[in-house]
Amino acid sequence: MTHPRVTVFGGTGFLGRRLVERLAHAGSEVIVAARHAGEVAVPEDASGTVVFRRADVRNADDVAAALEGADAAVNAVSLYIERGGLTFEDIHVEAATRIARQTADADIRLVHVSGLGVDVDSDSAYVRARAAGENAVRQAHPDAVVIRPSVLFGPDDAFASSLRMLARLPVVPLFGHGDTRLQPVHVDDVAEGVARLLERGMTGATVELGGHGVHRYRELVQAALDAAGRHPPLVPVPFALWRALSTLLSILPNPPLTRDQVILLEKDNIVGEGAKTFATLGIEPKDLLRVLTQRR
Ligand SMILES: NC(=O)c1ccc[n+]([C@@H]2O[C@H](COP(=O)([O-])OP(=O)(O)OC[C@H]3O[C@@H](n4cnc5c(N)ncnc54)[C@H](OP(=O)(O)O)[C@@H]3O)[C@@H](O)[C@H]2O)c1
Repeated sequence: MTHPRVTVFGGTGFLGRRLVERLAHAGSEVIVAARHAGEVAVPEDASGTVVFRRADVRNADDVAAALEGADAAVNAVSLYIERGGLTFEDIHVEAATRIARQTADADIRLVHVSGLGVDVDSDSAYVRARAAGENAVRQAHPDAVVIRPSVLFGPDDAFASSLRMLARLPVVPLFGHGDTRLQPVHVDDVAEGVARLLERGMTGATVELGGHGVHRYRELVQAALDAAGRHPPLVPVPFALWRALSTLLSILPNPPLTRDQVILLEKDNIVGEGAKTFATLGIEPKDLLRVLTQRR
């Protein structure tokens, strides 16, 4: 197996950090590219190396410098909230296209991280931008692999932590009736998947990465409550109310819930039939329901 020299844009983020650790552990030379040097724990027994190169993906020279010497690149940059003049279009379409063009021109393999449920016709500007970004990346770099992870869970995550926080409430509000089917995926499984894609030299594919189980939102809430030994009533709340609440919350600097998240929760968010997935990569992913239950 070969260990490519890899630039990870967003290598200090929730997913990027795990990927950098996994790649360095196996022997890759990893270049972490982000605006701020974050903490990336290089495993003690790592046979590879990690270096940081400061880069803003909106800047073509920064992107070129970050790619210098790389065999492969991963775009794991995120933007979940538009603020400070920064738009979803800037990061998920324009910067994604910039990285795709520059990697294609330099004959560098690319894994572009998108998300499950992308849709050019979505009510959500975030989901539309992710769909447009995928299309632009495929055009600019036809050999790129696009991965679409489901919502991520893992240590210090946002999703499972929010489920556990619900256990403290006297009454738990559900999104609609809590019937939306989800397939949360462990961050380490996604990192392993991306590493295997790179190590096997896979090209030109779209891979959907969901966790082991498909669960209704209500089941996940119930599992978190059971684990905490609490049984407050579950109250259905219409999505129209959630949309209104998230619009109100958008004036906060760090809103606990965004309109885009509400819209994503209105539809099932699961791996499509016939999609390439973890099975293609020989990975058996973890199941959030089991993880929540084990904490009992
Ligand atoms: N988290 C989830 O549940 C989830 C689910 C599905 C898909 N995804 C996708 O997975 C990818 C990674 O998500 P994540 O949750 O790990 O993100 P994250 O924790 O928010 O990390 C984002 C990373 O991007 C970097 N970044 C942001 N703006 C940048 C810029 N202008 N130039 C260079 N670097 C920049 C950040 O570092 P600096 O701020 O220092 O630059 C950080 O390293 C994203 O594509 C996301 O949409 C995530």
